[in-house]
Amino acid sequence: MTSLQVETTYNVEAIRADFPILQRRINGHSLIYLDNAATSQKPRQVIDALVHYYEYTNANVHRGLHTLAEEATVAYEAARAKVARFIGAEPECVVFTRNTTEAINLVAYAWGLANLKPGDQIVLSEMEHHSNIVPWQLIARLTGAQLHYVPFTPEGELDTEAFEEALRREPKLVAITHVSNVLGTINPVEELTREAQEAGAKVLIDGAQAAPHKPVDVTQIGCDFYAFSGHKMLAPTGIGALYARRELLEQMEPFMGGGSMIRRVTHEYSTWADIPTKFEAGTPNIADGVAFGAAVDYLQQVGIQAIQQHEQQLTAELLHLLEDEEDIVIYGPRDPKRRCGLVSFNFKHVHPHDVAQILDKYGIAIRAGHHCCQLIMRRLDVTATARASFYLYNTIEEVRAFWKALREVRKVFGKYGGR
Ligand SMILES: Cc1ncc(COP(=O)(O)O)c(C=O)c1O
Repeated sequence: MTSLQVETTYNVEAIRADFPILQRRINGHSLIYLDNAATSQKPRQVIDALVHYYEYTNANVHRGLHTLAEEATVAYEAARAKVARFIGAEPECVVFTRNTTEAINLVAYAWGLANLKPGDQIVLSEMEHHSNIVPWQLIARLTGAQLHYVPFTPEGELDTEAFEEALRREPKLVAITHVSNVLGTINPVEELTREAQEAGAKVLIDGAQAAPHKPVDVTQIGCDFYAFSGHKMLAPTGIGALYARRELLEQMEPFMGGGSMIRRVTHEYSTWADIPTKFEAGTPNIADGVAFGAAVDYLQQVGIQAIQQHEQQLTAELLHLLEDEEDIVIYGPRDPKRRCGLVSFNFKHVHPHDVAQILDKYGIAIRAGHHCCQLIMRRLDVTATARASFYLYNTIEEVRAFWKALREVRKVFGKYGGR
């Protein structure tokens, strides 16, 4: 690592120096990037790993006998080992995918189609991202399985009584998010997994908002599947991962067929390569995979626990600043320890799209919309929210600048939205 110094105290300035994009000015202001739940920025070390791969190593993996092919294979598999270690898994149990969405679809088609029958129950929660709803709707349509949704409480926590009630239906699958990308809620996945498995279900955890921001150990959680995206954790877009328990990966038929994933092909049938290659048909996303390894190295050097604590401080500060604003509604748990580093909110009288557009004039990037969570929007009785989401390079000064910029929103629209 070039400029980052590993220190006992969290050195946010040293971290920021590694992210070239943070030098940008937007509309005459220093960029304040608070859209990390959508995608994170990339440090120089990850960009360098990507460029280095193309400049020195580029070749196709797994089947070449020349030096470059061998080096590319070693780099790609080393990245898989790093990503696996980062979540407490063995490398063979980690399949590279494009993103969380593809990882969930892989489970839906490779496991769901083979194991679900008419009337089988799939339990989801109402705080799921569309990528953990729509694949199950498609599979339910194909298999005749039924979907059951667990609601969340007005505080934005999963309704545990309703969850237990749902388990009495003896579901075949429970698919639930680790951290909500709208409410910020951290679900107690270890406990939920244990209860669901005791009820006979397989458990899939959507880790898209957890793996980048808090320590994750899939062995400790005990889940059957865990899906996450590289681009939300400093890696390039187009690379993500699915963890699955070894015996499930071994039992499951491939999701896609083609080159690389076979052992033998005859006129009539084929046999499959070992896991995880069985699930990686065709030429994989080698370069982005290698850079995913560099991203994990970076997160580990800073320390994922330190990152979580830092984000908790930023979240606590923002919740504190917003709590006296009577024209702002905040969604999700009030206790910063019960949530990850994002805050969704709405002005009572200003549309969140207007909020985001005005903030952009001050160089502040936030997200406004339904965040691919229309079931949450329905329960909150809104069509959209504004969302500020933090990462390791955000500062307390940025949180305060964001809060001050919200006053400008009020100046433009008036306290009552100009009405
Ligand atoms: C909780 C959650 N799940 C799944 C996804 C989908 O991630 P991707 O678009 O990288 O597949 C997101 C993206 O925002 C998310 O926040």
